[in-house]
Amino acid sequence: MGQKAIEIIEEGNLNKKELLEKLQRAYADECLAYIQYWEGARLPVGIMRTKLVEEMQEHANEELEHANLIAKRIMELGATPIVGPQEWLKKSTCGYLEPMDSNIMVLLEQNISSERCAMEVYRELADFTRGKDDITYKLAVKILEEETEHEQDLEDIRNDMEKIDS
Ligand SMILES: [Fe+2]
Ligand SMILES: [Fe+2]
Repeated sequence: MGQKAIEIIEEGNLNKKELLEKLQRAYADECLAYIQYWEGARLPVGIMRTKLVEEMQEHANEELEHANLIAKRIMELGATPIVGPQEWLKKSTCGYLEPMDSNIMVLLEQNISSERCAMEVYRELADFTRGKDDITYKLAVKILEEETEHEQDLEDIRNDMEKIDS
């Protein structure tokens, strides 16, 4: 626990409990997003399979990195990241869309909607911390940027698929 780190939060007029709650929720989202991509990457069949698998594996690694960054921030603020899938599911904002269908369009839609949800989460976290907690703010913006890229990557594949179909 970083004592000065906590003082800075308190001096920034930020409710530490509320901030930690938001970080725990974001952490849960990232753990589930990692698993959703990691499991989903085994499923795609058909044309564009290789491209989508590659993209999903890359996204999985980046979601795990996000989870690590959020966990680090939670610990700097004197708390411990929540543990285990049941807790993640309880706390998560975006939930877990079980990848059950090997249809590429279905997988794309699922993950696009999860990315959009993540973008909302980080926009809200950035709004909450702007001008009050520079470190969490920078982190939220950095992750928001990456979730935006994820949405774009998946939309690009969906657009290519639509061209193939037409
Ligand atoms: Fe993420
Ligand atoms: Fe993402």
